[in-house]
Amino acid sequence: MSRLGGEKVEVLLSEAQLAARIAELGARISADYAGQPLTLVGVLKGSFMFLADLARAIDLPLKVDFIGTTSYQGTKSSGVVRITNDLSRPIDGEHILLVEDIVDTGLTMQYLLENLATRHPASVKVCALLEKPARAKVQVPIAYKGFSIPDEFVIGYGLDWDGRFRNLPFLGVVKP
Ligand code: IMP
Repeated sequence: MSRLGGEKVEVLLSEAQLAARIAELGARISADYAGQPLTLVGVLKGSFMFLADLARAIDLPLKVDFIGTTSYQGTKSSGVVRITNDLSRPIDGEHILLVEDIVDTGLTMQYLLENLATRHPASVKVCALLEKPARAKVQVPIAYKGFSIPDEFVIGYGLDWDGRFRNLPFLGVVKP
């Protein structure tokens, strides 16, 4: 447990645990795509740290792009997802791996999978560092998953709480 700006933060996944799992994911991705070019598409902003480490664990001809989304809850139960920053170029014919920090309700990934499929890539798969299965509203196929975690709000390693804590090198939970 450490104190950051007055908040009590408990370590859920340490730097060493994250690094070990990401090395495994990178090795699996490298083997599965077997030398073919791959484009990582990081979902902003939460995936930036995971993507930076994952990219270095992948031994393939690699391109990197980013897509920004926002999701908001209307008066209905389902969130509405919208693209705030689009990809920098077309992706037709490319193998795409969507890199996400956390699949929570699954609505962001469902929307992005449908949206990117309309751009005629060779394939689109999902790599998510974290999944909160208890919160799923839709089932999203996660080809490469780091960890399943309990239904707690997590911060650090790219994930924020009201814009803060993205710079923590570990994944933590804020305790009251
Ligand atoms: P989904 O559309 O509900 O799956 O939402 C995914 C997005 O919600 C993630 O990319 C995160 O930005 C955010 N999110 C969900 N759970 C957490 C959390 O525990 N900590 C920080 N951000 C979260």
